Amino acid sequence: MKKDLLSLLDLEKDDFIYLLDRAANFKKRFNQGIHDRPLTGKSLGLIFDKKSTRTRIAFETAMIQLGGTPIYMSTQDTQISRNEPAKDTARVLSRYIDALAMRTFDHSIVEEFAAASSIPVINALTDSFHPCQVLSDIMTIIENKGRYENLKISWVGDGNNVAHSWINAAAILGLNLFVASPKGYFVSEDIRAEALEHGGSQIVYTDDPKEAADNADVIYTDVWASMGQEEELKKRLNDFAGFQVNKELLAGAKDDVLVMHCLPAHRGEEIAEDVLEAENAVFWDQAENKRHIHKAILETLILKNR
Ligand code: CP
Ligand code: NVA
Repeated sequence: MKKDLLSLLDLEKDDFIYLLDRAANFKKRFNQGIHDRPLTGKSLGLIFDKKSTRTRIAFETAMIQLGGTPIYMSTQDTQISRNEPAKDTARVLSRYIDALAMRTFDHSIVEEFAAASSIPVINALTDSFHPCQVLSDIMTIIENKGRYENLKISWVGDGNNVAHSWINAAAILGLNLFVASPKGYFVSEDIRAEALEHGGSQIVYTDDPKEAADNADVIYTDVWASMGQEEELKKRLNDFAGFQVNKELLAGAKDDVLVMHCLPAHRGEEIAEDVLEAENAVFWDQAENKRHIHKAILETLILKNR
């Protein structure tokens, strides 16, 4: 595997399979009360420039449970906020810690850190991608459907960072992915072109949520205004009319459709309250699986197992 995990295009298909399998193994053993500690003596830095509940705590608990130590730094508390360059910070941190998980705005920031660090850099969400999220989502699909192939997986909503990572995953794994977004909120041409280069010719892009939802095995949504886009919310609420995942939209899907959301969810906006609380909504499993997949990522990158 590459040194860093910045986007899912950094992974080969075999890397996906390895990480998903390893995470399932960690989960099984943890639930049996077996506590593996392969990262004893290792430390993980977390530099977060945006809010987080799940990703931060899933990384911190993953590291602790594997015997290592997480060190959380809000960007505001570091010299980065006083303009110390990324390439200096990255070289210094490489002398202290064994891996760095970063959540920030522009994707070029994690790329700069990765280029200057001798340690693995893991993207814990940027404006462009959320790779670790989609790995735990695929793990959740496998748990519920036994596979990820030959399923109609539909994204209904903004062409945002999570959608981008789904498109990357679909390209590498050959997923049957539909991406429905309102006009003006489509994923960028660059993301689509890159997916095509990696074999994603089967991905369907549409502005019709019903086309995506009909006969779907999985329907995934996310907030209409991501972190950093709060000021656009009013306009977006208007522009995304008809894209709410609700009972009406789900009526066309398969009876056993899985409803997914990376959370946090905005009830009454991208998702209806009754859908959110329904049994086929697997959000809580997605959230739990972040911890297991983070373990697989941390172990593999820190110990250079692959
Ligand atoms: N899904 C997700 O990344 O959640 P947080 O923003 O709480 O980390
Ligand atoms: N698209 C959302 C995901 C949050 C986990 C955001 O970037 O805010």
